[in-house]
Amino acid sequence: MADVLTRIRRDHVRVKELFKEFDGFGPQASATRIKLARRIIEQLAVHDRAEEATLYRLLRSRAAEREARLAVLEALEQHALADELIRKLLSTDPMEDEFDAKFTILEQSVEQHIKEEEARVHPVARMLLRPEELDDLGARFEEAKKQVAV
Ligand SMILES: [Fe+2]
Ligand SMILES: [Fe+2]
Repeated sequence: MADVLTRIRRDHVRVKELFKEFDGFGPQASATRIKLARRIIEQLAVHDRAEEATLYRLLRSRAAEREARLAVLEALEQHALADELIRKLLSTDPMEDEFDAKFTILEQSVEQHIKEEEARVHPVARMLLRPEELDDLGARFEEAKKQVAV
C-alpha cells in the first residue's frame, strides 16, 4: 500500500504529463484539446480537495513551528489561486484566446505549486507524521478523491 505522499507524487506526474500533452496540441482550438483541458481541470480540482481533506487538514493541526506552518499555509493559498483560475476558466469560451491565456497561467502556477509542495510540505509531513499515519492518509486520500464531485 502506498502512503499519501507517494500517491500525491503519482498524481503530480500524471497531471504534468497531461499538461505536456495539452501543450503539444499547439494553439489551434479543437474538440480533443478542449476535452483534455476539462480533464486536467477536473483532476486538479479533485486532487487539491483530497489533499486538503486529508494531508493538509492534519498538518494544519500539527505544524507548530513557523517555517512548517508557512509551508502549509502558502500551499493552501496556491490551491485557492488555482481555484480562482479554474472558476474563471469554466466561464470562458474555450475557443477564445482568453481561455488559453488563463490555462497557461494555471499550468505555470500548478508547476510551481507542485515543486514547493514536494520540496517544502512533504518534508514537513515526513517529520510530523508517523509512517502509519502516512499510510492511513494514503487510503483516505483515495477515498476522498472518489467523493469529490466537480
Ligand atoms: Fe498536490
Ligand atoms: Fe497541492
